Amino acid sequence: METRGIILAGGSGTRLYPLTAAFSKQLQPVYDKPMIFYPLSTLMMAGIREVLIISTPADTPVFERLLGDGSRYGISISYAVQDQPLGIADAFRVGKEFVGGSPVCLILGDNIFYGKLDFLRTAISANKGATIFGYRVSDPERYGVVEIGSEGQIVSIEEKPKEPRSDLAIPGLYVYDGSVTDIATSLTPGPRGELEITDVHRIYHEQNRLHVQQLGRGIAWLDTGTPESLLDASTFIHAIEKRQGLKIGCLEEVALHQGFLTASEYQRSVAQLPASSYRSYCESLLTSL
Ligand code: TTP
Repeated sequence: METRGIILAGGSGTRLYPLTAAFSKQLQPVYDKPMIFYPLSTLMMAGIREVLIISTPADTPVFERLLGDGSRYGISISYAVQDQPLGIADAFRVGKEFVGGSPVCLILGDNIFYGKLDFLRTAISANKGATIFGYRVSDPERYGVVEIGSEGQIVSIEEKPKEPRSDLAIPGLYVYDGSVTDIATSLTPGPRGELEITDVHRIYHEQNRLHVQQLGRGIAWLDTGTPESLLDASTFIHAIEKRQGLKIGCLEEVALHQGFLTASEYQRSVAQLPASSYRSYCESLLTSL
């Protein structure tokens, strides 16, 4: 079965208040695009064409206005509402019907990856059980932390530990087999009142079906949850785009590159864009077709 993708784009975004008073974190600009373009392009680059976007009752219609049914990118996008931010693992209760026993890749809508992203495609095709990633950071205590043993095995996983046992944070990008919905829906809320993704991983780990892959320093993983990290992400995207003259997270370009759109479908999609530097960029790619 084809691996499906879920983008979890709800939450309360309290740390970004007042930016998030009227609309959600994942709609905020990261330099020249709404934040959700980046995780969506990450899924598309891994070959995923069936995507579910989960957000709040107020924001789901806005995402729908932004991205439509996905046909302009040669993919299918559906939407589901999470009434309350009941935790990351709650994505599998809300998305149960969408997943329907398929393998699935979950990405948090505020996680941005840049660099050689083949690792995700490889992890999806090799996945048996669940795959999480480990990424070296200077402040692991802010994240879920994984400790990897000398043979690549998982020694421990801890959620926001005061004294981290390693400096490997777990990014908001996970790959699961079809049993994840049953596992997630069997959980009860933890002390924070949320269905914790760490508990899903603990169960896979107990079943000896959890794998971790360490991401190298050549990959940038940016987090956008605070005003400063949001600005850092914009500055990063701006610096690379300006230097290379290429866009990061341009969905039309990714669709063309992945073969999700034929050249003439791409032309039709681009013709519908309003006059903007984004459209000019997409048009400039036409000359190289
Ligand atoms: P967080 O950054 O942990 O939470 P948040 O976005 O609500 O922000 P804050 O801590 O400032 O209040 O969430 C990580 C991502 O997961 C983010 O993209 C929001 C999303 N999310 C949901 O969509 N539903 C949820 O129930 C939770 C907990 C998070």
